[in-house]
Amino acid sequence: MHFSSAQISTPNEEPSSIKILPQWHSKPNHLRVICVGAGAAGLLVAYKMKMNFSNYDLVCYEKNDDVGGTWYENKYPGCACDVPAHAYTLSFEPKTDWSTFYAYGPEIRQYFSDFAAKYDLFKFVKLNSRVQSATWDEATGQYAVEVSVNGKTVKDYCHVFINGTGFLNDWKWPAIPGLHDFKGQLLHSAAWDIKADWKDKTVGIIGTGSSAIQIVPQIQKTASHLTAFMRSVTWISPPIADAALEQEKKSKMAALGDESEPDMKQYWYTDGEKQRFRDDPGFHLAYRRTLEASVNAAFDMFIRDSEASKAADEGMRAEMKRRIGPGHEELKEKLIPSWPPGCRRITPGDGYLEALVKPNVTTVHKEIVKIVPEGVVDDSGKVHKFDMLICATGFNLAFAPRFGVYGVNGVSMADEFNPEPNVYLAVTVPKFPNYFVINGVRGNWAAGVALPSHEVQVDYILKCAKRMQLEQIKALEVKEEPTRQLNAWIDEWHKGSVWNANCKSWYKNNIVGGKLWIWGGSALHYMNTIREVKYEHYDVRYKDGGNMWDHLGNGRVKAEVEHTFDKLAPYIRNQDSPWTIEA
Ligand SMILES: Cc1cc2nc3c(=O)[nH]c(=O)nc-3n(C[C@H](O)[C@H](O)[C@H](O)COP(=O)(O)OP(=O)(O)OC[C@H]3O[C@@H](n4cnc5c(N)ncnc54)[C@H](O)[C@@H]3O)c2cc1C
Ligand SMILES: NC(=O)c1ccc[n+]([C@@H]2O[C@H](COP(=O)([O-])OP(=O)(O)OC[C@H]3O[C@@H](n4cnc5c(N)ncnc54)[C@H](OP(=O)(O)O)[C@@H]3O)[C@@H](O)[C@H]2O)c1
Repeated sequence: MHFSSAQISTPNEEPSSIKILPQWHSKPNHLRVICVGAGAAGLLVAYKMKMNFSNYDLVCYEKNDDVGGTWYENKYPGCACDVPAHAYTLSFEPKTDWSTFYAYGPEIRQYFSDFAAKYDLFKFVKLNSRVQSATWDEATGQYAVEVSVNGKTVKDYCHVFINGTGFLNDWKWPAIPGLHDFKGQLLHSAAWDIKADWKDKTVGIIGTGSSAIQIVPQIQKTASHLTAFMRSVTWISPPIADAALEQEKKSKMAALGDESEPDMKQYWYTDGEKQRFRDDPGFHLAYRRTLEASVNAAFDMFIRDSEASKAADEGMRAEMKRRIGPGHEELKEKLIPSWPPGCRRITPGDGYLEALVKPNVTTVHKEIVKIVPEGVVDDSGKVHKFDMLICATGFNLAFAPRFGVYGVNGVSMADEFNPEPNVYLAVTVPKFPNYFVINGVRGNWAAGVALPSHEVQVDYILKCAKRMQLEQIKALEVKEEPTRQLNAWIDEWHKGSVWNANCKSWYKNNIVGGKLWIWGGSALHYMNTIREVKYEHYDVRYKDGGNMWDHLGNGRVKAEVEHTFDKLAPYIRNQDSPWTIEA
């Protein structure tokens, strides 16, 4: 039995505004998606859309000449992940042959490049293309997007705009007068010149963040002299998930008849171990879960005044003193914090403390007042002369995107975020329909591994996109009130977190005592919060001002219209397993 839309729309032949669309139930509309960036976030969008969507276009505009984001850009010596490699892996895409327990930058970059090649994702990526602006048009339910490609502005459009530009992607020079007057080689950690050679040279490095901590031991090895400008204190932690690392080393040493305590630094997997990971997926999965759980288990430390926080303080303080060794009292006093570990990002710092006390290293704990052609002038007036100056001075945390985004009635996101950003669950923004950001403000920036949160966020975004596609939705706009209440809750939660202690960190936009811009809770807590979309928190507007039920179409489902006999009884089954009617 087939009805035409005219036959069933108005039984009494009265004119009606209701449309009976000539389509099956929830037939997907054509959906055009633009994602900015092809780092881990952009590649996840491409992979998940490819696996789960039909009738769509996706373009990931990437300003660089290759994919990989963080791991493409950060090429400084010693660049590595500080969580175990087998945990810094997409949850569904294990890698059995990681070379080391903590992966180095180039191998991680290769992992993402291999992922893109394996799933044929490069076809979604347009390289050397920098997004400049996105402007919402309520009439069409589209963003008009401007992209700079080889100096020319190209216009594009999309129904769904995803900002996958990462929160550590806009590196910054320090605001020091005269910086660019320096006549030696000037480098930034996140814009490293891989041809740089520091052998037998005098080198200065600015910063005590995670980047400086990884660079110092590498430069110290061959520079004639290294001066580290360290105006802020920081915690150097034991290796993350070190219990698993210790086990790894102990079993290997025991096999060699060595009963001594292993040192806790890097570990190279043997061919045999890689083979076992490859041959025994169950074993590999259990190993990965142990590592991930060890990272997540460390969260207790972030609860202020908890036993775990106190133990971390005592343990790390003693270990830092031990590693610095006898003497070096100024370094101990000026480097070891008084606030609890975790307030500012802790870094394992393999070899960092050991390098700082080497004879060819000087630490300077004074403010830098200016840079002159020969080097750095500190606030005592002393000039430190260098051949090379490294700024490991971090990233701009401008919370609004670096390109213009204009929402309902032309409001600018930059204006809306001044003085404070206003983001819902780190993914959506009131007044900016169909705009999504991956790991935006108040995302999971400080706990656990970044990638699982990225995955759950991409799932969240694509659930929204799918619903828009299936249900004739023109605009999905998060409401202000749930956003306001959420942010009030996060502020309150942070009163009991170590992040709220008296440190300076980029979690607080480098303002001591400033508001925290990270999630209020653990990584698992965040993921649990965004696993399902609370559509009641969104204002939904339909295409052509239509009825919210327009997507019910002609009263049929796809399998009926396409006469797919074997899909006509999906609920008849042998056990109570999930079933679906295909859209
Ligand atoms: C040195 C370093 C070490 C880190 N180590 C860890 C770790 O150990 N564990 C952990 O969990 N996380 C770590 N992180 C965080 C890391 O950034 C994330 O884990 C993850 O790689 C972020 O991926 P992303 O795709 O969100 O962002 P990114 O990797 O930053 O990618 C964003 C992409 O967007 C592109 N882009 C930006 N603006 C534009 C534009 N206007 N137009 C077009 N393209 C644009 C950029 O070129 C880039 O390719 C580290 C970060 C750094 C900097
Ligand atoms: N997994 C890893 O191992 C790893 C490695 C690198 C980076 N990362 C990620 O990237 C984030 C950023 O790390 P980052 O080290 O690049 O940056 P960062 O943590 O922001 O550190 C920047 C450093 O530069 C110093 N600085 C800035 N301007 C200065 C000035 N004018 N004079 C003197 N010092 C100045 C800062 O001092 P003040 O604090 O006093 O301002 C700070 O010590 C990390 O928190 C982490 O999330 C991770």
